[in-house]
Amino acid sequence: MREKGVLQERGGLWSGRRWVFESLPSTNRWALGNSKLLRHGDIVVARQQTAGRGRFDRIWQSPGDRNLTVSFCLDFSSPTPPTLLPAAAAMATRSTLAKAGAPARLKWPNDVLCNDRKIAGILCEQDPSISGRVIVGIGINIIFATDIPVQSGHLPAISLQQITGENCWTPEKTQEKLIKEMEILIQALQQLQHKILNEWRRYDALDGKQLVLNTAAGDISGEYAGVDELGRLILKEQSGKHSHHWSGDVSIRAKHQ
Ligand code: BTN
Repeated sequence: MREKGVLQERGGLWSGRRWVFESLPSTNRWALGNSKLLRHGDIVVARQQTAGRGRFDRIWQSPGDRNLTVSFCLDFSSPTPPTLLPAAAAMATRSTLAKAGAPARLKWPNDVLCNDRKIAGILCEQDPSISGRVIVGIGINIIFATDIPVQSGHLPAISLQQITGENCWTPEKTQEKLIKEMEILIQALQQLQHKILNEWRRYDALDGKQLVLNTAAGDISGEYAGVDELGRLILKEQSGKHSHHWSGDVSIRAKHQ
């Protein structure tokens, strides 16, 4: 281990082990680079990330002690992890934020929004060196919302402090709650898939929206038609055909377009 970290063993439903770092380039990258050290249920936390990663190789900014950056190491018995895992992580994040006083909604595949602005992001990465292992990285803007220029169709990010004010939850308190919520959702994922989907639909930020889905094969426009039982986005295309998508980047089309 090149970076200085502390391994805390606390017990609980997880492995009980937390790898806590003052600073890391990226908790996800560290977890993927130290596969052999980790076991199922280990949690990697950094008070600061210097090269945080987002989906589609985007940067995830997170200056010291101002945000929560955490990765969960999960080993599944099947080589293909549950397809609803990213959705479950988003839902755990949503309910954590709701308890912190920030009512949030979900944007497929796993963004968490407050006032239509991104407050948290999730990056699930499969570890190619260990069958069935997924690293679930969660970043929550507590005090700092990134100042990276926003792409068209996206609103600037928002932080918990902007929603709940000066006395907002600390990254530590948010982390404790998130770990509890993740525990509930991961268990539910294995037992009660339909409940997860019903819960997702209750807080679905894309409901009734016109979208552009950016995929490897190009952009597809259409009307959002929900999430299927495998966690895929359903798009009602202009031709009337319903297509199901495993991945892609969603932009909401303005009403006048
Ligand atoms: C996204 O919205 O694009 C996903 C952002 C994920 C950020 C988290 S912070 C903890 C973990 N480590 C990383 O480098 N990324 C994830």
